[in-house]
Amino acid sequence: MVEFKDKLVLITGAGSGIGEALAYQFAQKGTNVLLTGRRRANLEKVKVECEKMGVKGYVCELDLEQYSSIDSLVEYIDSNGLNPNFIVLNAGISQRALTFDSDFSVDQKLMNTNYFGSVYLIKKLRHHLIGAPKAHIAVNTSISGLFGFPLRSAYCASKRALFGFFESLALEYPHIKVTFIIPGRIRTEISRSAVLGDGSKFGEMDPGQANGMDVTKCAKIAIKAIAKEKHKKLIGGTELLMAYIYKYTPWLYYILARKVSAH
Ligand SMILES: NC(=O)c1ccc[n+]([C@@H]2O[C@H](COP(=O)([O-])OP(=O)(O)OC[C@H]3O[C@@H](n4cnc5c(N)ncnc54)[C@H](OP(=O)(O)O)[C@@H]3O)[C@@H](O)[C@H]2O)c1
Repeated sequence: MVEFKDKLVLITGAGSGIGEALAYQFAQKGTNVLLTGRRRANLEKVKVECEKMGVKGYVCELDLEQYSSIDSLVEYIDSNGLNPNFIVLNAGISQRALTFDSDFSVDQKLMNTNYFGSVYLIKKLRHHLIGAPKAHIAVNTSISGLFGFPLRSAYCASKRALFGFFESLALEYPHIKVTFIIPGRIRTEISRSAVLGDGSKFGEMDPGQANGMDVTKCAKIAIKAIAKEKHKKLIGGTELLMAYIYKYTPWLYYILARKVSAH
């Protein structure tokens, strides 16, 4: 079993949703938390709640679309003598637009935020990962990273890319454990920040999200998977059936996925 107490976890997108809920799960286990994201006020609130559980909280603003911001986070880590034992690559944005209605800048935004930002961060943290006897990276992907889905071409691509990169890394460096967290539909604000074809925000709560799994429940399942050093953990409700349908009867998946509401 993984030891959490007195360790440090770096979480991207820790100011809301699954990242926030995971911060509380780590804090409950005695793990100090380094909370990152763009909205400092959110991060400060999460820090206060974590510190009430007796751990030390650190806050550093991070915009994964800006490499200079990722550099600043790494400088913050190094200048404060921090050494993250766990890295949770959680931050992300979604999409609600048909492929040909999505401007190419949307494809770039999704890849930069959901994929390249995390890849750049991990490479910049090389000195913490290569030399350490052990490290653990949890990557929050999505069930939409397992297959294509309507209105999500860029989102699916960015999430699928994470599997390829981090699975390869885990194979190359056995002392670095990688756990893929694969949520289905979880009750968070993710649909509100999802981007439309012109890059503007969708701004609405999808019924899919509203009826999704409770976010604390999701985080509890996720931290158990991290504790057991699982390679992958699907988290959600009946929508997870789609993963099995896709795997075993792809022809049926194509029929169903065209009919399922993408909202
Ligand atoms: N909810 C679901 O049903 C579901 C399903 C599958 C996968 N997921 C994945 O779960 C992860 C967390 O999403 P959530 O559902 O918890 O929604 P959320 O509350 O919207 O969380 C997304 C987080 O990502 C951060 N973020 C977005 N853009 C960023 C950027 N450029 N730089 C740094 N941080 C950024 C946001 O913080 P700031 O705005 O403060 O930067 C926010 O805290 C995402 O990767 C999402 O794709 C969610």
